[in-house]
Amino acid sequence: MSADLLDRLRVAVGPRHVLTGDLAAGHCRDWTGRFVGSCTAVVRPGSTDEVVAVMAACGGAGVPVVAQGGNTGLVGGAVPQGEAVVLSMVRLDAVGPVDPVSGQLTAGAGSPLARVQEVARGAGWRYPVDFAARDTATIGGTIATNAGGHHVVRYGMTRQHVVGVEAVLADGSVISRLGGLVKDNTGYDLAGLLCGSEGTLAVITAARLALVPDVGTVAVALVGFTDVAAAIRAVGGLRRTLPGVEAIELMCADGMAAVGAHLGASIPISGAEAYLLVEVVSTDPLDELATLDSVGGLVDAAVASDAVGAAQLWRWRESHTEVINRAGPHPPHKFDVTLPLASVAAFIDEVRGDVATRHPGARVWIFGHAGDGNLHVNVTGPSPDDTDIDALVLGMVARFGGSISAEHGIGRAKQPWLHLSRSATEIAAFTAIKAALDPRGLLNPGVLLPDQRLS
Ligand code: MLT
Ligand code: ZN
Repeated sequence: MSADLLDRLRVAVGPRHVLTGDLAAGHCRDWTGRFVGSCTAVVRPGSTDEVVAVMAACGGAGVPVVAQGGNTGLVGGAVPQGEAVVLSMVRLDAVGPVDPVSGQLTAGAGSPLARVQEVARGAGWRYPVDFAARDTATIGGTIATNAGGHHVVRYGMTRQHVVGVEAVLADGSVISRLGGLVKDNTGYDLAGLLCGSEGTLAVITAARLALVPDVGTVAVALVGFTDVAAAIRAVGGLRRTLPGVEAIELMCADGMAAVGAHLGASIPISGAEAYLLVEVVSTDPLDELATLDSVGGLVDAAVASDAVGAAQLWRWRESHTEVINRAGPHPPHKFDVTLPLASVAAFIDEVRGDVATRHPGARVWIFGHAGDGNLHVNVTGPSPDDTDIDALVLGMVARFGGSISAEHGIGRAKQPWLHLSRSATEIAAFTAIKAALDPRGLLNPGVLLPDQRLS
């Protein structure tokens, strides 16, 4: 079966773009090293027609297809299992041009996020979705996970910026809605449905994206607080008094110390237990940031109003993922959760306390997008198979009225825990949608929902 399928895949995309063995291995594990799988081959289609041909070949052989972009996901959602074929989208990387009238562009699914941002800026616009993996993460992946990132507090999640998509369905048919109509109430919003679908409903090949005007200049402040509770209490006031606020990011003393050791640098302000990184883009961002002086619980602040200084302050926040991933002895248990903002400080106290009691020696690292109530809770120490940690943290999130996934998605990591955030009725609706669009369960089986081929 495999040899015949490989032949068909070589015909579909050209022999150079069918990778097996060692060349495929890097596509079978995630960036953190926590999720490792296997595949028959990695194929790299260069057009939508080639994606259709790959779907036909895999459908004919009854072999699952796992679409993969930059493979920067953090929940194992693009890691293939068994004999799956990985559909690497990186050759579908055409971007633009920007339509100056609508402020939109079309991007291939494999376009790196940073490239889309660059093309938008070159035309006087911005694509505001942004996060540390911007150089590698692809537009298709950001749509499949409905990526969030730093600017959600001002611009919302990826779904808000997707005007339409082109996608190949499981049966090889193509839906295409790249015309850029902002108002279009002709039934179901299929593009919206594919946002956050994690490769389980269709393979996204291109997207029409809405940009925002590139106006104003940037200033960034690293603000130190006496404790996490004071930092979180400040969030509402910052949103109210800083009209140009684009990011309000939380960091804690232990994470900052570890990042400092990694960077070989001293934290720009001393004596704080918690920090907010506040980014403002406006006509006079320094004037806006001057109001920080009156924020309660503030210890000190460092401000940068040039691009280099702003990037240096952002390194303190963006290095957290890499530094924690190396803290060992195993890849971390990564939780990406949202809490009602008013409960964030209490949640942090309780999660630190309960983990310390039940897992002495484990370390809890907390950072995230405070403006959205989105915490990245990472636990290092326990082995990746230790599900007690998952039960403890995610169960607590549910008790606090939060969501078990704010922005990374469910993937494989949280598939068994979906019921904590979704009712049985909602999961039944998900299952019905999946069965309608992918009746044989060949698109990314085992991600988001249980593998339907096993039931
Ligand atoms: C971040 O906000 O830095 C990312 O979501 C990555 C992470 O959670 O480690
Ligand atoms: Zn994040």
